[in-house]
Amino acid sequence: MAKLRIGIIGTGGIAGAHANAYKTFDDIELVAGADIIPGKARKFLDNYGFPDADAYETHEELCARDDIDAVSVCTYNSAHAVCAIAALESGKYVLLEKPMCVTLAEGIDIMKAEKASGKFVTVGFQPRYNENCRTIKRIVDEGTLGKVYYVQIGGSRRRGIPGGTFIDKEKAVFGAIGDLGCYSLDLSLNSIGYPKPLTVSAYTSDYFGKNPKYYPEASRFSVDDFSAAFIRLEGDIILDYRMAWAMHMDICSDFVILGTDAGLKAKAPEPNPLWGSIIGGDIAGLYLMHDDEKGTPVTEKIDLPPTPYDQFVMKVRDFVDAVKEGRGAPIPTSQIIRNQAIIDAMLVSARERCEVKVEIPEI
Ligand SMILES: NC(=O)c1ccc[n+]([C@@H]2O[C@H](COP(=O)([O-])OP(=O)(O)OC[C@H]3O[C@@H](n4cnc5c(N)ncnc54)[C@H](O)[C@@H]3O)[C@@H](O)[C@H]2O)c1
Repeated sequence: MAKLRIGIIGTGGIAGAHANAYKTFDDIELVAGADIIPGKARKFLDNYGFPDADAYETHEELCARDDIDAVSVCTYNSAHAVCAIAALESGKYVLLEKPMCVTLAEGIDIMKAEKASGKFVTVGFQPRYNENCRTIKRIVDEGTLGKVYYVQIGGSRRRGIPGGTFIDKEKAVFGAIGDLGCYSLDLSLNSIGYPKPLTVSAYTSDYFGKNPKYYPEASRFSVDDFSAAFIRLEGDIILDYRMAWAMHMDICSDFVILGTDAGLKAKAPEPNPLWGSIIGGDIAGLYLMHDDEKGTPVTEKIDLPPTPYDQFVMKVRDFVDAVKEGRGAPIPTSQIIRNQAIIDAMLVSARERCEVKVEIPEI
């Protein structure tokens, strides 16, 4: 079978994980890379063992190639939409790094381009392939909890503000809210079937990133480092969300789902600077709480299966398989637009200090 021909747009930090994953499979060929920093794509391709791949200094040049089937978009957030749309318009399938983009309007534009192209965009949430996250979803899907009415999720780092383009408003647009925040939204919403968001009341702050006592690059810090929100979802469900790159606390919250028949608690692990919460799939213990036949409350510890593969490689493999098998996007924009709409609404709500309505137009 012909090899699937891949290009990478944006050859910075995370592009390396994409290149390494593509390298794992011999039915895939990485044939091109593009980065707007002169020489960066060439150096990247050489360093990752692709000396024969072509390097470009604009995404347009890479997209103009008609012998490329699919691309990974690995630019910083503010360039996700322009690159994804260009790739779709040139007939390529897209694996788009998280978050989907930076505004709801951009998300809508991506979906319109996707519909017109007949190709698909899948969004790069690798914890979807983590067995812990899958176990939580399976328990909810089986109906064990009854009707779900409340979800609490938190992404917690005590001191974990990243550097690079993550803290630059022009490139990242937002901070923890769209970095860890989009993962926590994906984990919680996916676990309960991605219900439509209705309203959002949110708060954001930047007390740590802006303070040189806590963050050495404070003068460069221009995004949020903490956020909290109360999100009303269709089906009369409340999502209680907290997110921190830094705070004077160990964890923001465990992952809790309350239902009419049972409750599920995924305990957050000890904080660590990388994830510091269950949103990457790292769980200290999973507990199901309900009543036994006599009406006595019981707590069952759920065994967690190992994830016997690299979840990042799995997301790349699933993307490639979906293209080859002609199935739809593994992590579709029709779901992730809801994630993006919540982030958008959180930013508006925090800025205007009021609850805002979420309205997602039909595409
Ligand atoms: N899935 C994960 O585990 C994971 C981890 C880290 C980052 N990310 C996401 O990946 C994205 C990139 O993060 P990063 O840390 O690699 O950022 P980075 O700043 O290191 O790399 C981004 C690169 O994109 C290039 N670029 C920007 N606009 C471009 C354009 N129009 N055409 C070509 N190149 C362009 C930049 O010059 C830069 O080299 C972010 O959206 C981030 O949220 C995902």
